[in-house]
Amino acid sequence: VLAIWHQLTKTEIPELAKCSVLMRERSRVEETIHAMQRAGAGNLQVISDFDMTLTRFAHNGKRVPTTHNILDNRLLINEDCTKKIRALLNTYYPIEIDPSRSAEEKLPLMVEWWTKVHELLIEQRIRKDMLAQAVKESSAMLRDGYKVFFDHLAEQRIPLLIFSAGVGDVLEEVIQQNHVFHPNVHIISNYMDFDQTGVLRAFKGQLIHTFNKREGALSHAAGLTELQGRPNVLLLGDSLGDLTMADGVSEHENILTIGFLNDQVEERKESYINSFDIVLVKDETMDVPNAVLRHIT
Ligand code: TMP
Ligand code: MG
Repeated sequence: VLAIWHQLTKTEIPELAKCSVLMRERSRVEETIHAMQRAGAGNLQVISDFDMTLTRFAHNGKRVPTTHNILDNRLLINEDCTKKIRALLNTYYPIEIDPSRSAEEKLPLMVEWWTKVHELLIEQRIRKDMLAQAVKESSAMLRDGYKVFFDHLAEQRIPLLIFSAGVGDVLEEVIQQNHVFHPNVHIISNYMDFDQTGVLRAFKGQLIHTFNKREGALSHAAGLTELQGRPNVLLLGDSLGDLTMADGVSEHENILTIGFLNDQVEERKESYINSFDIVLVKDETMDVPNAVLRHIT
């Protein structure tokens, strides 16, 4: 039976045969895909990270900005603030992706990073009405094939939960400007709190960073009624911390996880293969998630 499945997946999802696609257990992936296909679109939900998962990591050799980095624009922050935020990125990003440190070890350092950056942003008195322009001027870019991904999920009425430790207001503007903020899209992220004159004064709610998504999933995602009664989950992420995004799904049946391995490939390959069902190495496209979705819905 396994041999037949193998053949099926090879012919029906040729994207999975590419050499940039790594799987620890191909047969498990195939079984999960077939179980999801049998259950159909009505039983499926998609949970995805945003920065460097739905957005590209790089384009023409240049890094694509994350939602935080999109705010690095003179319309919003001054040069001194730019320097400080860049210095923090240079200090903490290597820690975020360091395979030799555990998530427990990284957690307090991530809280430190996010807290410092948010404090700097608040000092800048960022104006809400300037955000759209900053996104327009940025080189923010969703992965190739993003339109097929978002449109297909909307057409099939499959809820898409975007779970981001980035800045929610910026994230919304990016998907709005790319014309894919469809009604099936739900977002959990760090949202800005503006005063009555439209000036940033705080961030709303519990801080979300890369390694506390489990708490966010339990407190927010579990309450989203649109996600109820959909026991099959396709999860997309680029960080090992993203794997906990589905922890709020009660009575889940099949979970298929796809991890984008963008950076520090050799150092992190083993841990990614051991953690995600499918690992995509330096793949700037949505081709594999789209092929899986086309097959199961
Ligand atoms: P994500 O959960 O949507 O991927 O967003 C989190 C990413 O944002 C994470 O990989 C680190 C990145 N980040 C920045 O690029 N700049 C910053 O100032 C902060 C705090 C995070
Ligand atoms: Mg990410």
